Amino acid sequence: MTEKTVNLFEKYDVPVPRYTSYPTVPYWTDDPTTEQWLAELRKAAAKPDCRWSMYIHIPFCESLCTFCGCNNVITQDHRREEPYVQRVLAELEMYLAAVPDLAERSFRQLHLGGGTPTFLHPESLAALLRPIARRFQTRADEFDASVEVNPRVTTREHLETLFANGFTRVSMGVQDFDPTVQYLVNRIQPYEITEALTNDARQIGYTSVNYDLIYGLPKQTAEKIRKTAELTLGLRPDRIAFYSFAKVPWIKPAQRLFKDEDLPEGAEKRELYEIAREIFLAGGYVEIGMDHFALPHDSLHKAQLDGSLHRNFMGYTEFRTDVMLGLGVSAISESPTCFHQNVKKAPEYEQRIAEGRIPTMRGHLLNDEDRALRQQILQFMTQLHVTLEPEQIDDARTFLAPMMDDGIVTLEGNELRLLERGKPFLRNATCFFDSRLRTSEPRTKIFSMAL
Ligand SMILES: C[S@@+](CC[C@H](N)C(=O)[O-])C[C@H]1O[C@@H](n2cnc3c(N)ncnc32)[C@H](O)[C@@H]1O
Ligand code: SF4
Repeated sequence: MTEKTVNLFEKYDVPVPRYTSYPTVPYWTDDPTTEQWLAELRKAAAKPDCRWSMYIHIPFCESLCTFCGCNNVITQDHRREEPYVQRVLAELEMYLAAVPDLAERSFRQLHLGGGTPTFLHPESLAALLRPIARRFQTRADEFDASVEVNPRVTTREHLETLFANGFTRVSMGVQDFDPTVQYLVNRIQPYEITEALTNDARQIGYTSVNYDLIYGLPKQTAEKIRKTAELTLGLRPDRIAFYSFAKVPWIKPAQRLFKDEDLPEGAEKRELYEIAREIFLAGGYVEIGMDHFALPHDSLHKAQLDGSLHRNFMGYTEFRTDVMLGLGVSAISESPTCFHQNVKKAPEYEQRIAEGRIPTMRGHLLNDEDRALRQQILQFMTQLHVTLEPEQIDDARTFLAPMMDDGIVTLEGNELRLLERGKPFLRNATCFFDSRLRTSEPRTKIFSMAL
């Protein structure tokens, strides 16, 4: 890295959102009631051409990985499985009762996330998935089901059960293959476990295997990340999500266990990304958006080429849907006009479901400006260029002037474009569209650093 580049890393390593939604969660203001949320959902359900997806959150994990920023419940008590599955199904029934048109809609996409969905035994997964399949007619050629799995607790039988229920994509948490890093994050996961599960997935017929990797973990070095990238290349997942370690100790106290001096930051952290990136590109992968890679045959790459790449709370996805219905503790839903999040604590979720109430915690009703900006942000984050409205041009020239000087973006006519060397700073440039961030302090402390 040149000295000038290094300085940019210092200059732009500031707290910024990841823009998996707009407005970003800390700026959700209206807190619609459950009734308001349902009214927005009914509007969407009344439109036959509206595209639907479903997200189901399974919060349980048997042990805590200390880097983890996800909403999870750490337990070894598998008696919790069956009641949880019943609660999620009860929540779905509440939606079907409150939004009658929903039963007529087919879901294009189903994603099981967590926590660890494969904390559930195969029978529990089947008990969850069969009633959903019965409720919605989905055309196999239009249906995309994916699951996040932790290879340490996932068996071939899990994968077979999911496959039998229409799942063709599996995302495996790997993070880093290095034993020292694994030890420091409390996640010992020998290479052979990941290798065996990858082979199982391929034999069963999964068409897309994703690995989650993280850069910026404690004691990760250039040499270690090189090794992790090379081992990854050897197993050839169809996709790689290569996340920047999001340090949010005020939300996730376990991250305080890391020593500051062990954590790569700024330019040093970004260098880890660049090292692995070069290895992935040389190995035939294509970079997708800001932190994903895919083999050219993978649908994520095709979506990038034909402009249909989408971004939602889970990150980059090839399916552009209008509504995502989130079920389970802490699950987030979105419609063209509203965001909605379920309560985050498991006991509260249990209680609300037992009372027959949709477990609303918070949300946001989007105004016209929010919706226009959300569309621009989506385009910029997925296509890396976007057309500005005439009234945005002067503001862009002023706000983005330092980034134009630094060779991060260009503005030609009304077209804002991220330059190749600007890729690490995509989130910083996207702040231009974030009128809420630019005009007020967030309600809570939240964002991780840009790099
Ligand atoms: C729900 S987990 C994946 C499934 C499963 N629980 C596992 O860990 O294998 C989602 C992914 O988010 C990523 N992740 C979690 N905490 C993170 C953090 N603080 N910074 C960056 N990525 C994080 C990890 O790569 C993780 O695999
Ligand atoms: S990384 Fe996955 S397995 Fe580890 S605590 Fe987080 S959700 Fe659970």
